[in-house]
Amino acid sequence: MNPILQVQGVTKDFGGLRANNNITFSVKKGELLGLIGPNGAGKSTLFNCIAGVYPVTSGRIYFDGREITNLKPYQVSRLGLARTFQIFVASGDLTVLENIMVGSFLRTRSRRKAQSEAGEILEFMELKAYSDQWVSELPVAGQKRVAMATALATKPKMLLLDEVAAGLNPTEIEQMMSLIRLIHYDKGVTVMLIEHVMELVMNLSHRVIVLDSGNIIAEGLPEEIKKNPEVIKAYLGARYVERQQEGG
Ligand SMILES: Nc1ncnc2c1ncn2[C@@H]1O[C@H](COP(=O)(O)OP(=O)(O)OP(=O)(O)O)[C@@H](O)[C@H]1O
Ligand SMILES: [Mg+2]
Repeated sequence: MNPILQVQGVTKDFGGLRANNNITFSVKKGELLGLIGPNGAGKSTLFNCIAGVYPVTSGRIYFDGREITNLKPYQVSRLGLARTFQIFVASGDLTVLENIMVGSFLRTRSRRKAQSEAGEILEFMELKAYSDQWVSELPVAGQKRVAMATALATKPKMLLLDEVAAGLNPTEIEQMMSLIRLIHYDKGVTVMLIEHVMELVMNLSHRVIVLDSGNIIAEGLPEEIKKNPEVIKAYLGARYVERQQEGG
């Protein structure tokens, strides 16, 4: 299958700190790709470079057959690449419905159309009951779903999800997994997700990339990644293997 996203030799420096070092990978159309690694590994920075939030120091990025290196975030969104932020800040005094409409307005100027599209997404994301509430008053799980719904409202071909399961309880994680599966299969959206919740990333992903100190240290099937000694040493050891041994 054709790659929808190609990242070629991307390096991102913050002053003297190299957050991403010569990162090269591609994502196939229809793939569900996981991105894991320790805190500070450079995962969110990579998403920010892809989404045009940060300019890259060097390297090139292609999406859906076009170069998108250093485009502005709205230009990248318009081409069909949407993202959620790790820390979702609801836009001002917006209700859940209005917040999702902000996503819809990327593709339409009609308030009525935006409202009806946002309404459909509300239902899809199981947010209808919260429609008129302030986003800031929702529990974490609801806020994460609003963030995803707003990104979905831009009608993306590909979605970058940054820690949408962080802070959720086990039941909410199950629900989140079902939602991501639905977005991927039913809506046909290619998904790349950053996650520290290993149950989610290992169950959902076709393939997993591991970042450590700005470098890709492994790439493979979830089963391969779980057994990779370098990955266990750099990251999984503490988080996953021990918990499995505990029977969790
Ligand atoms: N805007 C910025 N300015 C300066 N340094 C930054 C900036 N954003 C990130 N960094 C640094 O880049 C490195 C990578 O950070 P990043 O947020 O990408 O890590 P991460 O893998 O997403 O970590 P986490 O799992 O904790 O979210 C860190 O050392 C971080 O302090
Ligand atoms: Mg991060």
